[in-house]
Amino acid sequence: AESTFTGPRKVLLAAPRGYCAGVDRAVIAVEKALETYGAPVYVRKEIVHNRHVVETLQEKGVIFVEEADQVPEGALVVFSAHGVSPAVKQMAEDRDLQTIDATCPLVTKVHREAVRFARDDYEILLIGHEGHEEVEGTYGEAPENTTIVNGPWEVEDLQVRNPDQLIWLSQTTLSVDETMETVQKLRERFPKLQDPPSDDICYATSNRQAAIKKVAPQSDLVIVVGSENSSNSVRLKEVAKEYGAARAERVDYANQVDEAWFQDAATIGVTSGASVPEVLVDDVLRLLAEYGYGEVEEIVTAEEDIVFSLPKEIRKALTQAG
Ligand code: F3S
Repeated sequence: AESTFTGPRKVLLAAPRGYCAGVDRAVIAVEKALETYGAPVYVRKEIVHNRHVVETLQEKGVIFVEEADQVPEGALVVFSAHGVSPAVKQMAEDRDLQTIDATCPLVTKVHREAVRFARDDYEILLIGHEGHEEVEGTYGEAPENTTIVNGPWEVEDLQVRNPDQLIWLSQTTLSVDETMETVQKLRERFPKLQDPPSDDICYATSNRQAAIKKVAPQSDLVIVVGSENSSNSVRLKEVAKEYGAARAERVDYANQVDEAWFQDAATIGVTSGASVPEVLVDDVLRLLAEYGYGEVEEIVTAEEDIVFSLPKEIRKALTQAG
């Protein structure tokens, strides 16, 4: 099939896109655990929110469970990149589980802030999506002191105990613009609201959004590669629309791309979420080339060179193995 558009066609490929340092580390941690201890390796929740990554690891002998109490006593469990609450760690300890904590260091940073501000008797307004694993984990550090704010629309009816002792923190994978809007609304209601010591939305989330903001206005269609439950991937689709892409679609795999989307499309923007392996983007580019979109221009808005060291439990095991 052909696009009905007959003029020059091309792809604008956003950069940075795809794997962040926290996802890379978490996936390698599970692979090393498999090599070191052999299958099965249990992982609590999806190690990262990507279907392909989860299915590939399953084939290698990883068993994904919803909660630590589903892991056999004494077995090995990996905590996902999104982090866990102290209650989950306690549950693992009660079951004598051997644990590898693959929580992204940038999520751990937010946990530490929550603990510290709760200790100083602050009330924490945690901007994030209720029910998301990361938010459950951060909330669990100081449930008595924390209120979840899903977005700007919740600010008006928010109840706080003491407007003089307030701080906002956030999930790492939110829309930068929407979060700023929430904070502004919060500050109008609570002028003494304090900012977090440093940004909670991580570098990878901000960089991927900044790149798609450059690509979207020039694109008739934006394809975001990423899973439905991947917060940062879903945000990329929203941002693409807000920044002028006539159409934006999210796919897990190239075979979900619908040729009807190409109708009248001269330029197609492509990006991927922080949990998406580059092979999945390559598949989409190959498919687009078959439809006449073989010319690819990469739009680079930032260089990333952040690498995190592996979880300490893995480093220790690797040292012992020599
Ligand atoms: Fe960490 Fe941000 Fe990736 S919090 S897991 S670097 S999306």
